[in-house]
Parts: sequence; C-alpha cells; structure tokens
Amino acid sequence: MNPEAFIRANAALLAPPLVPEIKLYLATEVVPLWRATEDELAKIGVPPPYWAFAWAGGQALARYILDNPALVSNKMVLDIGSGSGLVALAAAKAGATQVLAADIDAFSCAAIGLNAAANQLDIAVTQEDIIGQHSAWDVILVGDLFYERPLAERLLAWLAPLKATALLGDPGRSYFPKHGVEKLAIYTVQTTRDLEDREIRETGVYRLV
Ligand SMILES: C[S@@+](CC[C@H](N)C(=O)[O-])C[C@H]1O[C@@H](n2cnc3c(N)ncnc32)[C@H](O)[C@@H]1O
Repeated sequence: MNPEAFIRANAALLAPPLVPEIKLYLATEVVPLWRATEDELAKIGVPPPYWAFAWAGGQALARYILDNPALVSNKMVLDIGSGSGLVALAAAKAGATQVLAADIDAFSCAAIGLNAAANQLDIAVTQEDIIGQHSAWDVILVGDLFYERPLAERLLAWLAPLKATALLGDPGRSYFPKHGVEKLAIYTVQTTRDLEDREIRETGVYRLV
C-alpha cells in the first residue's frame, strides 16, 4: 500500500476547527476511513491512522504557537509524535528557523510531507524513534502524546534533563504528568464523538518545568 496514494484517496484537505490557517489531509464523515476499524485497515496493510485526525492536544498547541510566535520564531524546533504534522506546521508558519517533525509511523511521515506541501511550508520529517537521543533543539513540542503509559514515561524521562523548552498540548489524557508542568492556556477544542467520548474537549497548553 503506497502511503501517499492511500492518504490522497482516503482523506480530504480540511482545516481543523481551532487552526483554520492550516489545511491537513484528514478523515471526514464522507470518506470511508472514518468508519474503518483497525482490523479492516490491518488487512490492507495500513496502521491505525493517527495522522488522519487533528488531536485536541495538537490543535491547542498549534493555536498557542500561532498566537505566540515569539516562542518558536528564529528557533530550532522539534515536533515529536507529529501525526498529521499540524504542530510542526504551526511552528514553521510562526517563523521557526528549522522544524523537524518526528513520527515512527510511515503513513504519518507521508501525510506530513503532503500537508507541508499543501500549506507551502518547509519542514523536515523523520521516521526514526528519536526519544532518548541527544537533542540540540531549542524547543520541543508535544501534541497529545500522554495516552499510553510506556510512551509517556519514556518521553518525560527524556525531556526532563534537556535544556530545551518543552511545550505540551493535552486534553487530560491518563498519563499526563500531574506535577512539574506550568499551565499556559486552556482552549475549548471541537473534536469528534467517534474519536473521543465527547464533541468538545477542554485542552491545556503547558510548559514542562
Ligand atoms: C495521538 S497522535 C498525536 C498526533 C499530533 N501530535 C496531534 O496532536 O495531532 C500520536 C502520534 O505519536 C506517534 N508516536 C507514537 N510513539 C512515537 C515515538 N516513539 N516517536 C515518535 N512518534 C510516536 C504516533 O505514530 C502518532 O502519530
């Protein structure tokens, strides 16, 4: 299954509700991906399409960056667990010198490339798992990655000693840290009942301290 062809055929170029200035290839009610189960996708060699949704944490973080461009402008920025690339694209639009979008999913990397081209923004993409590696980034952006304990623990152990400013967008996922974060903003994010258990999620943007 060619990721680019799959994405073009199964997603539509749309702006997420909180970030109207960025368009992404997203699942919609009118494309079949919306209703496909993980098993159905696995049969055709497609991993769960995290890239096809603008997650609440990513939407809030992207909004915050676009409204506070000084946080990333003229800085080297990493978006870890980039999914659709929304947060990385917001950083590029806000004036970051260099942006790397990292996601271990090949379909996500393909979606990030298509989304960057659709928005005429220039970002680099890697599929390598760089959590734990040496980091020289000024700012590390984390959109909605605290949904799974092992990932959350690895991420926090890596970020804590780094000099980089780490900004987190999170709608109250189970493994979001209870301490060591400073709340910067709260947004009401429109999401989808098929993906979340509600249509609106209160979502915070935090700085790791
Ligand atoms: C819930 S999505 C969030 C996507 C995006 N940040 C957003 O807010 O819309 C989580 C993403 O993290 C990626 N991911 C999981 N483990 C990872 C790792 N070790 N390194 C990089 N990405 C990872 C998944 O492939 C998925 O695309």
